[in-house]
This record gives sequence, structure tokens and C-alpha cells, in this order.
Amino acid sequence: MVKQSISPNVRKTPSGPRSYPIIGCFPQMASNPLQFLTNAAREYGDVVHLGPIGPQQLYLVTHPDGVKHILLDNFHNYVKGDNFKDKDFTLLVGNGLINSEGDAWRRQRRLLQPAFHSRQQIAAMVSLMTNVIEELLEQWRSIENTQIDVAAEMLELSQKIVIKALLSLDPNSSETAQIIQAWHTVLGFHTDRIWAFFKVPLSVPTPKNVRFLQAVETINTIVYRLIRERRQSSNDYDDLLSWLINARHESGEGLSDELVRDEIVALFVAGFDTSATSLGWVWYMLSQHPNVESKLQEELATVLGGRTPTYEDIPNLKYTKMVIQETMRLYPAVWILSMTNVADDEICGYHIPAGSMIVLSPFVTHHLPSIWENPDKFDPERWSPERSAGRPWASYLPFGGGPRQCLGDVFVTTEMQLIIAMVSQHLRLKLVPGHPVEMDTRLALRSRHGLPMTLEPRKSRELTLQNVE
Ligand code: HEM
Repeated sequence: MVKQSISPNVRKTPSGPRSYPIIGCFPQMASNPLQFLTNAAREYGDVVHLGPIGPQQLYLVTHPDGVKHILLDNFHNYVKGDNFKDKDFTLLVGNGLINSEGDAWRRQRRLLQPAFHSRQQIAAMVSLMTNVIEELLEQWRSIENTQIDVAAEMLELSQKIVIKALLSLDPNSSETAQIIQAWHTVLGFHTDRIWAFFKVPLSVPTPKNVRFLQAVETINTIVYRLIRERRQSSNDYDDLLSWLINARHESGEGLSDELVRDEIVALFVAGFDTSATSLGWVWYMLSQHPNVESKLQEELATVLGGRTPTYEDIPNLKYTKMVIQETMRLYPAVWILSMTNVADDEICGYHIPAGSMIVLSPFVTHHLPSIWENPDKFDPERWSPERSAGRPWASYLPFGGGPRQCLGDVFVTTEMQLIIAMVSQHLRLKLVPGHPVEMDTRLALRSRHGLPMTLEPRKSRELTLQNVE
């Protein structure tokens, strides 16, 4: 039920920067949205009115109390906003979990949640992940001292892991290569269109449209074939495809082939780019902070001493996790979330009329000086239990929050811990000196010019010495 929290005498409206009719603050925001939203929050406060966006009014909410109200306390009142969505992109995502609302969403979430959050499932994922990482490590160790683009490598690695976990496809198979190739086309298409004011309809056969449609067709052909084969197979598979095929709603009804396909592809959308960009930023932060790097080495030497991590090691890789948390605070892959309120609402004392578009910005909230001491400083120690105590619930939202919190949060945090631990034990990744690193906000927050780094072998002495000390 939608909670009506408006008292009759509350009609305070938020202020904000000068805006234009219809397009509001879009022109100022489009050139550097992170700077624009950060300045808007610093100048106008917890809730900012950003003028119109088409027929809707646009508001930015950054204070943790307001964020919590939207994501948790009154979440029934919010549906996903679609102004920032490319409607043609739904051709790819279909009716998968990330795109659904209301009862359909609840039913899907209930079905999928245990596959991502049960201890047994995550434990099974760990050995799958370490096998894929081991292969990459072997390749990298054979090309030590070479320069690679870590951003591109992390994308391929996280794609291989997700594809293996979802479909049990061999990371070196031609199907995996085809999905990865098709994904490049899809991502390029989406990146070009997401912020474009005018989008050429898909029915117009421009070369870009044709390539996009072909890429979707490639993905569909592979996924549908796997669904058909799996329904006929008597073998046991410990992957998400089997989970979906065997899943039953409370009514006993199973999922259609279309819905299984939609869920799989929606998980590609949710998981590929976000994981890869976050990992890229971790390597960048480590390359810039040698003191953090040595502390990480100490932990790896103590916990692992050079061996491959297991599921039981994950809780002991505490500092590794703190490095990841701090990187995702400074560089949240999902830097903006948008939604629409069904009924009027009151947020941090401000009246928000029904049908408005609300944006939350994890990036801005993660940099609020009122919450975070030295917000721009990379300081993994701020995630120690002592320093984290008392921090407001919604001050940190790289995975969103509330009932629609990221389903892959445990999966991906585990994956990142394993990748950082396994690679760092053997190699040091050094950013090519002088390479410009800028944030690109067109989709997931990524590095605009890639992350060229050199793979420097770590001397085995480094590990053993620290072990003895
Ligand atoms: C570092 C990597 C990741 C980040 C930063 C991230 C972030 C997020 C965020 C912020 C949301 C909320 C979106 C919204 O409310 O509109 C979300 C939702 C979701 N994520 Fe992730 N995600 C990551 C990786 C993954 C992975 C690896 C998977 C699965 C393979 C995944 C599956 C999902 C799903 C299914 C949802 C929709 C949940 C729902 O609506 O109930 N994510 N993610």
C-alpha cells in the first residue's frame, strides 16, 4: 500500500538552478553530470528541483534520509523512471527482473533471490570463478611486462564468469566468444543513444540499427538453443539456467522459454559492465596508492600465502573487501538511479507532486561532506567496523538499496575479492605514466580512455618475506 505522508500544512517546495522550459537543466547537466549534480546538491541542499524534463518535473534527492524514504520506507510509491531508458533497448532486456514492476517483479525476485544469496550457491560459484580467473592469470603471466588495457580485460573476464555461472558455457567456447562480440555491439549502440535527445527508430535500417538487431539475434539464437537443449537433457547442471528451468511459482507454474531468456539477458545487462568498470577502478586506485597496495599484500600473504583462495577464505579477505568498498564509494558504477512517484510525497520536508521524476545519485551521496570526512580521499580504513559505526543506512548505495537492491551484490563482491586476491599475489598492475584518466558517465561509470597498465611480476620474495614477518 502507498503510504501518504503529506500533512496538509506541508507544501514546502525545493529550489534549484535556473532551468529552461521542457528541457530543464538538461544542457548544463549533459556536459558534466557528476559535477553539475554535486554542485547542485552543495548549493541547494538535500532535495533540488531541476526544472522540467518533458512533461515531468525533475528532482534530485541526495540526503540519506530522503534516499532511505524512497528506496525503503515508501518504496511502494515508486516505479522505475524511464526517461533515461532507451525504449528500444527493452527489445533486448524483455520482461526480465530489472525491467519489471509490481506483482510480476515480486514473483520473479522471489524465484531468483535464493540462486544468488544461498550459501551453497555462492560456495559453488567460488570454484567456478577461481577456474576462470586462473586461466586469465596464466595468460597474463606469460606476457609479463607487457602493456594491456585493464578496462577491456576486466570486461572480458567478468563476462566469462557471468556466462559460465549462468549458462555453464566454456569461457573459451565459440558461443562465449559470440556473446561477448555481440555484447560489444549492443553496448556501443546503447552508449551512443542513452543521452541522445533524438533516437533513430529501430525500424529505420541504418547500419547501427542493423548491427544492433543482428547482435540481439545472435544472443537470442544461442540462449534459446541452450534453453531447448537443457529442457531435454537429463544431466545435472549447477547453473542459473537450470535453476530457472526448474523454478516453480507458488501456483506450480514454471517459466516460459521467453521469460527464461529474458531473465538471462537481463542478468547480462545488470552484471557485465557494472562488474568490469568497478574492477577497473580498483586496479586504478591500487596503482595510485602504494601504501594501500602494501597493506593488501600483507593480508594476502597472511591469509593465502600464495595459494588460490577458497570459499572459506572470503570472510578473511577483509582488507581486500574494504579496498573494493572504498573504490565503489568513489566510483559507483551505477552513478544515477531514476524513478517516478505514483502519489504525492514528502521528502526531507519537501512536497513532491505525483508523477515527478526523481533521480538519486550514488556518486553525489557518496561524496557528501556532511557524511564522509575528506570525501574525495581514497581511504579504505573508513570501512573498519569502528569507523563505519553509526553511518546512515542510505549513505552508501553502490548496489541501490531496499527491496530492489542489486541481486548480484554478494556474487560480485565475492568475484571481485577473488580477482583482486589472485592477480595481486602474482602481478602488480602499473598505470602507464601520464595516461589521462577521466570518468565517462554515458553508461556505467567507466574510464573514458581505458586503463592501459603494465603487468609487472611480483617477486616471490615479497610474499614469503611478509609471511615470515
Ligand atoms: C559491481 C557490480 C554491480 C553493481 C555496481 C550493481 C549495481 C546495481 C544497482 C545500483 C541496482 C539497482 C538498480 C535500480 O534500482 O534501478 C542493481 C540491480 C540489479 N542487479 Fe546489480 N550491480 C552489479 C552487478 C550485478 C551482477 C553481477 C548481477 C547478476 C549477475 C546483478 C544483478 C542485478 C539485478 C537482477 C538487479 C535488479 C534487482 C531488482 O530489480 O529486483 N548485478 N544492481
